[in-house]
Amino acid sequence: MRALALVLLLAGCAEGPAPSTTSGSAASAVAASATATASATSGAQARVSLEFKRDGKRVRSLSLAELEAGVGAETFSVVDPYYNKKKTFAALPLAAVVKRGFDGQDLALEKQHFVLRALDGYTVPIDGTRLLEAGGFLAFDDVDVDSGWEPIGPQQVSPAPFYLVWRKDEQRDTTTHPRPWQLAAIEISPFEASFPHTVPEGEQEGSPARLGFALFREQCIRCHAINRDGGRIGPDLNVPQSIVEYRPVAQIKSYIKNPLTFRYSTMPAHPHLSEQNLDQLVAYFRSMSQRKHDPGGAKEGTAH
Ligand code: HEC
Repeated sequence: MRALALVLLLAGCAEGPAPSTTSGSAASAVAASATATASATSGAQARVSLEFKRDGKRVRSLSLAELEAGVGAETFSVVDPYYNKKKTFAALPLAAVVKRGFDGQDLALEKQHFVLRALDGYTVPIDGTRLLEAGGFLAFDDVDVDSGWEPIGPQQVSPAPFYLVWRKDEQRDTTTHPRPWQLAAIEISPFEASFPHTVPEGEQEGSPARLGFALFREQCIRCHAINRDGGRIGPDLNVPQSIVEYRPVAQIKSYIKNPLTFRYSTMPAHPHLSEQNLDQLVAYFRSMSQRKHDPGGAKEGTAH
């Protein structure tokens, strides 16, 4: 699914109805991918770059060489939950990278909301406090192999240009400490600005739909869109048809908990979600099914 999304990005199909904040970065992510994935020799690495954006506008783009000179690289070994073994990476300390990227912006970075965007459509919202937490690193080289990277994930892709890794044992849970690979851009953007059409407007704070929305933000939006806002690894769960319009509730709940009992796919299991959590997610989907937003959606559907 990740590989497919990358192909779609490269083909330029995925840009259509994305909000203006995303289409620009998708385009520049494509540019980065052309240099980053064409070759993984150290010569090509000099051309790898990371983009920094604020509220949809580009702040700067820094090459790997500039980042290395500015923040200094480290090499270390760590057990990696996606490779499922000990890996050795050359990596840049994430907090220093973020500070360098947004240098001169006169902002309390830990108070900002960020979005991490990968070349394959993976889009992770993350709070400044988590992003700046000690132990986060942007790996740019897989030291275990002679050139390039050992392939990662269900689609066995290269994680280049950057793979976010966390160094401490207590940072190994990928729900709390996401690890996007093919990372191409770091953006400062309030959640509502990046994903305006995912908000269940009019629902009371503390209602099941609002609680479901909080879960969706934290655990699902990195792969799924609602009303075309969000990740593109999995299907949009609201348009053209909401998941609650074509699947029975019991099936949706057990699918979310353990998708592999339905079909072989790359949707991860969510065994930690309680019955109440699942009901809240369904309440959120029901609420959003009354709040559809899909300008010109059918056109993109045909193009794919
Ligand atoms: C790592 C990416 C990823 C995450 C995280 C993820 N999903 Fe998925 N999801 C997928 C993919 C990929 C599919 C499509 C699987 C297929 O077609 O077989 C999918 C399918 C689904 C479907 C079935 C859609 C259909 O029409 O059959 C539902 C419902 C769903 N996801 C809900 C969720 C919810 C709720 C969460 C958060 C608790 C979540 N997903 C988190 C990747 C993800």
